[in-house]
Amino acid sequence: MKVFLETQRLILRQFTEADANHLFELDRDPDVVCFANKTGKPTQYEVVRAQILPNFLEYYDKYDSYGYWAAVEKLSNKFIGWFHFRPAVGNPDEIELGYRLQKSAWGKGYATEGSQALIRKGFSELNTQRVVATALVANPASIRVMEKVGLKFEKKFVEKAYTYPGVSQEAIKYALTKDQFQLDEFQLDE
Ligand SMILES: CC(C)(COP(=O)(O)OP(=O)(O)OC[C@H]1O[C@@H](n2cnc3c(N)ncnc32)[C@H](O)[C@@H]1OP(=O)(O)O)[C@@H](O)C(=O)NCCC(=O)NCCS
Repeated sequence: MKVFLETQRLILRQFTEADANHLFELDRDPDVVCFANKTGKPTQYEVVRAQILPNFLEYYDKYDSYGYWAAVEKLSNKFIGWFHFRPAVGNPDEIELGYRLQKSAWGKGYATEGSQALIRKGFSELNTQRVVATALVANPASIRVMEKVGLKFEKKFVEKAYTYPGVSQEAIKYALTKDQFQLDEFQLDE
């Protein structure tokens, strides 16, 4: 299985058919999916096997370097979740960053570490021009990751597809262009 990139503590690799259980275990935790799935609810195994995993795998046919990447913690050699770095649905010129990790892996800086590496690779090797990310306002951990990796607030919008009762559909979009990224790097180097 092809490794896409490696950070200090993580390996991001391609998904395979054998990852159905990993994805099911991830998506069965209500705390993981409440702000991440459109329904806010856990996913049935059959949906993971027949829809979600095939959708992830399709990216490898369509794109050399964009798609969904399984995150493996080097220390334990275990699957801890995933990142996506993919052409945004409806606007393929924007590369959309996303992440979903098991609760046991939260709070260790892993989402930040993986996202930073993807952004750097995108701007330096993949001809990415603009990286975007979205989250519900109700999901401060996700928004904090966007801020920590240098994305800037762009706009608020209503995520009409999100249907979990009692949670606001208010959402935000953050973005970073290649020019801004290079300028930020330059200023850090100074
Ligand atoms: C969002 C998610 C990927 C973050 O992963 P992580 O590895 O814990 O993130 P990091 O450790 O890199 O950074 C998290 C940051 O959010 C902060 N944070 C966490 N919970 C928070 C909260 N409730 N309010 C404010 N900040 C919070 C952390 O303190 C940390 O910031 P800091 O380093 O300045 O202290 C993880 O919580 C997750 O998988 N959630 C479920 C799936 C999901 O919501 N995905 C995003 C959909 S848009």
